Amino acid sequence: MVTKGKEIYRGKAKSLYYTDDPTVAIMEFHDDATAFNGLKKGSIQDKGHCNCQISAIFFEKLKERGIRNHFQGFVSEREMLVNCLKILPVEVIVRNIAAGSLCKRLGVEPGVVFEKPVLELCLKSDELGDPFINDDHVLALKLASAEQLSEMKEMTLKINEILKEITSAANLILVDFKLEFGVQDGILYLGDEISPDTCRFWDADTKKVLDKDRFRNDMGEVTDAYQEVLQRLRRLT
Ligand code: TMP
Repeated sequence: MVTKGKEIYRGKAKSLYYTDDPTVAIMEFHDDATAFNGLKKGSIQDKGHCNCQISAIFFEKLKERGIRNHFQGFVSEREMLVNCLKILPVEVIVRNIAAGSLCKRLGVEPGVVFEKPVLELCLKSDELGDPFINDDHVLALKLASAEQLSEMKEMTLKINEILKEITSAANLILVDFKLEFGVQDGILYLGDEISPDTCRFWDADTKKVLDKDRFRNDMGEVTDAYQEVLQRLRRLT
């Protein structure tokens, strides 16, 4: 059993702690929620627990399918043991269906299904509001090497296919999601979380929103949505 050490970093929804093993860290999931780059603040009861468990289910299934990721096991129901990664400051977003900021930005109706997944890159920067960047910016600003960038994109498209299979078995539509990657000993790993905070999930029959949009857009039944996603994924395991 590892010992929980000092806090390395506290983010908006998670904290990272040192352990007595320098290669592993503890990631603790909180109930705190923010939206619109921190402008809206609140709390979603039981979110930390749900997001930790949901992320672990996805990470385990991805690992079985050959996708290297940071998940190593649980410390408690809302804490996981992860590889200590140096996170690359690039957010990789995949959109299968038009929703959220893409609709506002490009004047597309929500719900339009894309023939091919749309991949977007953003600079991970709260101060700048995670602005859009392209491949040239990633290389010019040395946010990642050319090899890391192409590996991230290739992994992301594979992850999309695997997540679509898993969510469809849970009668959920995977609308879009955001990934973060990090490096340990020169090897690229999928990091962060895969949860209703970082993905959009709709019920496949009713199209009911089962993700953080319920908090962002004051739709109510927020905890219920997170718990529903967890229950459906648990039924698959
Ligand atoms: P967007 O439509 O607001 O750009 O969001 C696209 C996807 O990325 C959506 O699944 C939510 C996720 N996301 C994050 O994980 N963190 C963020 O800060 C934002 C803005 C979106």
